[in-house]
Amino acid sequence: MRVWLLTLGICSISACQDPAREGLADAGSRAYRANCIACHNFDPERDGTLGPAIAGSSRELIEARVLRADYPPGYTPKRDTRLMPAQPYLRGEVESLAAYLALP
Ligand code: HEC
Repeated sequence: MRVWLLTLGICSISACQDPAREGLADAGSRAYRANCIACHNFDPERDGTLGPAIAGSSRELIEARVLRADYPPGYTPKRDTRLMPAQPYLRGEVESLAAYLALP
């Protein structure tokens, strides 16, 4: 109950997310925790054991990385290693991961 009230309070003082986008970000949070935190930090704003901080990554970058272990044309990677494997079975989660990682 307290958590609910707190959420409501934050929502009233800042720009409120629309519920559909919040649901998507929640799904992205679950996908992130299940598939990314072996290497990236539980908190995407911080560097992980192997992977860099990825909060704020664009949808295009996430799609290229997750589906093809690639980068969008012209993108300068944060690391020049090639350790991250593609996870093409996450095709259906690209949208939700992008919504989660885009949250402030
Ligand atoms: C096996 C470890 C590993 C896993 C699992 C992993 N990553 Fe990565 N990731 C890395 C590493 C290491 C890099 C740095 C480039 C490289 O070595 O491939 C990276 C780079 C990235 C980048 C690019 C950062 C930049 O701006 O240059 C994004 C975005 C990213 N990962 C997203 C994800 C997402 C989303 C998931 C989960 C679906 C994930 N990664 C799972 C290790 C991993």
